[in-house]
Amino acid sequence: MCGIVGYIGNREAYPILIKGLHRLEYRGYDSAGIALIDQEHLKVYKTKGKVADLEQFAQQKDISGSIGIAHTRWATHGEPTQNNAHPHYSQSEDIAIIHNGIIENYATLKDGLIKEGYRFQSDTDTEVLVQLIEFMKITHNVDLPTAVQLALTQVVGAYAIAVLERNNPDLIVTARKGSPLVIGIGEDEYFIGSDATPIIEYTNKVIYVGDEEIVTLMRNEPLKIKTIGNIEKTPEIQKLEMTLSQLEKGGYPHFMLKEIFEQPAKLSDCMRGRVNVELDNITLAGFIDNRDKFRNARRIIITACGTSWHAAQIGMYFIEEFARIPVEVEYSSEFRYRKPVIYKDDIVIAISQSGETADTLAAVELAKQQGAFIFGICNVVGSSIPRSTHSGCYTHVGPEIGVASTKAFTAQVSVLTMLGILIAKEKESITDEEYVRFVKELSLIPEKVGKVLEKNEQIAELAKIFTYASNCIYLGRGYNFPVALEGALKLKEISYIHAEGYPAAEMKHGPIALISNEMPVIAIATQSETYEKVASNIQEIKARKGRIISIVTEGDQTIKNLSSHIIEVPETIPCLTPLLSVVPLQLLAYHIAVEKGCDVDQPRNLAKSVTVE
Ligand code: G6P
Repeated sequence: MCGIVGYIGNREAYPILIKGLHRLEYRGYDSAGIALIDQEHLKVYKTKGKVADLEQFAQQKDISGSIGIAHTRWATHGEPTQNNAHPHYSQSEDIAIIHNGIIENYATLKDGLIKEGYRFQSDTDTEVLVQLIEFMKITHNVDLPTAVQLALTQVVGAYAIAVLERNNPDLIVTARKGSPLVIGIGEDEYFIGSDATPIIEYTNKVIYVGDEEIVTLMRNEPLKIKTIGNIEKTPEIQKLEMTLSQLEKGGYPHFMLKEIFEQPAKLSDCMRGRVNVELDNITLAGFIDNRDKFRNARRIIITACGTSWHAAQIGMYFIEEFARIPVEVEYSSEFRYRKPVIYKDDIVIAISQSGETADTLAAVELAKQQGAFIFGICNVVGSSIPRSTHSGCYTHVGPEIGVASTKAFTAQVSVLTMLGILIAKEKESITDEEYVRFVKELSLIPEKVGKVLEKNEQIAELAKIFTYASNCIYLGRGYNFPVALEGALKLKEISYIHAEGYPAAEMKHGPIALISNEMPVIAIATQSETYEKVASNIQEIKARKGRIISIVTEGDQTIKNLSSHIIEVPETIPCLTPLLSVVPLQLLAYHIAVEKGCDVDQPRNLAKSVTVE
């Protein structure tokens, strides 16, 4: 979490940094701050709140300077106050730092520095690091890059940092371990970002900084990379594929709505070159290279967090049903610490939109150490997880900016489905006819998602009725159970209504006690082998006067008669239903949140890329 940006070159830094912060605001928005150097004046402006509050705060201030760093914070150590906002000064106020990550041994380091006479202004771990850098600089009488290097040898934790020094207006020192860091290379200028989004407007040449690397950016000089262990590295410049228009709202009031509506096009992008109806086949490069491993896998473990974990659940249902390989789905945060048994012939699939989630990255490292083959399903090209897995597939849905994940989810489910079909084909656990049917049905999904989106107005009207709710239950069975979990997550994330997803039949073991005429119940009741059973569960709720909104297959009559409201989705084969049934739930959560006046794209306390444990 937290976004960091930086600039050194011939232009005014302030507008570039502010624009960059806006692009990174999805990473946290508790406070924002900026440091600029102009003629040996090191100026720091920071404030509680969002980047817009910082802009307000910096009005009438001196914002000149062609070198600077800036930060948008998701609070870890210390409340979101002005004092705890970044940048942080060193004691002499000669050095300023911004930081994304956590310095785990900050308390020990802080005690040592207090004994040396250092005083602290904030409760943050970051201030400890900048003080340590100054301490190293003074006691070892070294330049800033060496002081940063010495300080980092003492640090335990994760960081992406950028450091400025008052007397050195031609230098930014950056370093990374665990948290992401990208450097953009322009003509006589450098850009720094937690990801490439603040950079793409100016250059498409980037370097993804590696773990434990320190990068020295000097005005008008080639950049230098060396490791904390003092080994020089040759910069590896890569070309960005992203475009600027992907980062804009394109006429939609919120990124989330834009991203929901992009799903037909983005799912086509995700399947392009992979699902081929003319040839009746599916191809995934990451699978072809490793088909033996998949055929011989003893077990598949899928690890992920949040919405990606819900996609993993659907993947489990699919792979077990059709490929007949046992699958376990693990929360990355639990998996990494619970000493799991991992065999060398296990395949671990890590799913992550951002490719940066700290727990998922750590789960990947753990499984790698234990000899498993690791396959990544990620969206952000060049991010940490795809770089540390053995093979994988990108979802190719372009930048997802709304904090609540939508198009990334449907693309993850699509990739898992393609992968599941390929494993099943390889293991001959499906017939050729079934394979061809899957290819055909998958290829129709983008168009059918388009049909669900036509219900937007109806769902917006429905949302008006349910803004009163303070609780909500989502029910589903089989492939639609993870969809119920995802629908509930969407609602609580952005509208702050407490919501729970439950397997429909489990309801009678507890949640049924909550049903009253106040309680909205969203039942996902599309055609499947458990349709009749779900219908009975809906009867049970109706008997207790619950207010039922059902997601049903087009033309359904039985459940329509039992429900207060229905939303129809087109027919498809049951295992592909999640790709359609989740869309009305995304729209419902969106419209309820908008009706309630919530900040849909930046819900309170959340961040999109969770780079802390
Ligand atoms: C955060 C985001 C969620 C996301 C989860 C996992 O909680 O708000 O939208 O599903 O992290 O992120 P990942 O990038 O690993 O998919």
